[in-house]
Amino acid sequence: MRPEPLGSLRRSHTCNQLRDQHVGQKVTLMGWVHRRRDLGGLIFLDLRDRYGITQCVLNPEVKEAFAKAEKVRSEFVLAVVGTVGRRPDNTQNKNLDTGAVELVVEQMLILNTSKTLPMPVAEDQQVDESLRLQYRYLDLRRPAMSKAVLLRHNLAKAVRDYMDGQSFMEIETPMLMSSTPEGARDYLVPSRVNKGKFYALPQSPQIFKQLLMVSGQDRYFQIARCFRDEDLRADRQPEFTQIDIEMSFVGQEDIFAMVEGLVGHMWRTVMNVELPAQFRRMPYSEAAERYGSDKPDLRFGLDFFELQVGDIEFGAFQNTTVKAFRVPGKGGLSRKETDAWVEMAKSSGLGGLMFASLSEGAVKSSILKFVGEERFKAIFEQLGVQEGDLVVIGAHAVRKTLNSALGKIRLEMGKKFELIDKGKFEFAWVVDFPLFAWNEETQKLEPEHHPFTSCHPDDLDLLEKDPAKARAAAYDLVLNGNELASGSIRIHQRDMQILVLSKTDLTIEEIQAKFGFLLDAFEFGAPPHGGIALGLDRLVAICAGFESIREVIAFPKNQQAMCLMTGAPVDATKEQLDTLALEIQKSKVGA
Ligand code: AMO
Repeated sequence: MRPEPLGSLRRSHTCNQLRDQHVGQKVTLMGWVHRRRDLGGLIFLDLRDRYGITQCVLNPEVKEAFAKAEKVRSEFVLAVVGTVGRRPDNTQNKNLDTGAVELVVEQMLILNTSKTLPMPVAEDQQVDESLRLQYRYLDLRRPAMSKAVLLRHNLAKAVRDYMDGQSFMEIETPMLMSSTPEGARDYLVPSRVNKGKFYALPQSPQIFKQLLMVSGQDRYFQIARCFRDEDLRADRQPEFTQIDIEMSFVGQEDIFAMVEGLVGHMWRTVMNVELPAQFRRMPYSEAAERYGSDKPDLRFGLDFFELQVGDIEFGAFQNTTVKAFRVPGKGGLSRKETDAWVEMAKSSGLGGLMFASLSEGAVKSSILKFVGEERFKAIFEQLGVQEGDLVVIGAHAVRKTLNSALGKIRLEMGKKFELIDKGKFEFAWVVDFPLFAWNEETQKLEPEHHPFTSCHPDDLDLLEKDPAKARAAAYDLVLNGNELASGSIRIHQRDMQILVLSKTDLTIEEIQAKFGFLLDAFEFGAPPHGGIALGLDRLVAICAGFESIREVIAFPKNQQAMCLMTGAPVDATKEQLDTLALEIQKSKVGA
């Protein structure tokens, strides 16, 4: 079948515009055949574009168009000209915006044909993700995906509108640059002009945004692409997008207020949800101790209580930290169910997991003979246990191991027992992070956030005496158990920057070589400044209700950092390598 030329024909409406008020009008629509139904006498075509779907009906009397409609298949591209008609009451489709009307077709052009698709786009069927990524341009035709693309656009637009209104300027920063230390590996780009040398793609615009403050730009933002060569997960892509922000002459609270305003605006204008004017604040230590996570999901309880039970003669309680949490109404779990949780505890580094419940006023627990009824009742009171509740108890010599294991179990129980209200948005600022983290591999301190983060003003003496204990002026914004944003008040003085860098594994020479330009800049009147970056992909995924950020990126990479559609990364030709003075180490390249 030969496609017909578009010629001078143009659309009068999109496939989501026709309503009752258009009945009787002559219109032209263009789009894809979403569904085709041949009801003997009549042929119905649902015509789709990114705006929506309109039902088109063809009568055999309109001979030429009807003959074409008989040949039309799914995903053919059509132009249809006709008159808008009201659908009979009993055939109106409440699920479609255009469901009250239909287009009675008088003329049809087949603008293009389509082979049978490798995956359905009309129905929301489970399709293998590799296939979806290979044919992403088809996957994006699915109305749910179109909706996510639009949501992303609307959220990004809300950011630009709001930031502009707050006197922020969007300033682009380079893609080809030298390394930024955000804790991941760099993507390197070989230089042809300077053979043997490499650019690094930015892990974030961190240093540039700080230099923009030194340059007096005062309020910067950018919807910025970042590149990180790190292990990929549902919430991590090798290239992703940040809403990157930096401000001069501010403290932590100013940044919180700004972000609360921005996020509030995004939710109000795009999601039609009014958020609280201020988000709750939680010290990092509380997040770790109560929820076993630095990004606690606060949509449900199951928070931990520490038990003072070291005096009880029971092996698991000797020289350990012991914590418990209450699971409402789950006292009746079967042995098989509790065994599965024990397995999870073991795989998370605990020796096991203990349980207790209150049934008809009596304590039930496999460790009752060690703990005794009376102590259990005291524990139940501490936890607010009610009849029928389950108490989960964990113990470990290393507090961090206990917290993170219980944190995982808490999260899994929250999901499994359906304690999470999916419609909720629970934001919190996690504050007072440690300045450094201990790296077991290198046996050195490394910055917990990044090395440009200033020390908490109350901990400056610790920075010299016991840097591992010093807190940072750093903060994360968490939403529903996700780290949505991260930021800090920066160092803006050369000596302090050298001091903090020297606590990590960098030598003075390395500091000078890597960050000399920044240290120099700090000597030319750098203002106090701070900022934050929000992960746009995560934000859109949460708003759209998707688990993976791949769903809200038009062309994402798979878990192996490959683009299944274009095949990237691909081999370079010999000429390309020669031009760059590069050679591939064949012995290190897998088949
Ligand atoms: P950070 O590294 O914490 O901070 O990143 C900020 C936010 O970006 C998102 N994010 C990611 N999203 C998808 N895929 C990834 N691989 C990925 N990595 C990070 C997260 C995270 O909270 N320059 C600092 C910010 C600052 O200090 O202002 C920075 O990049 O949502």
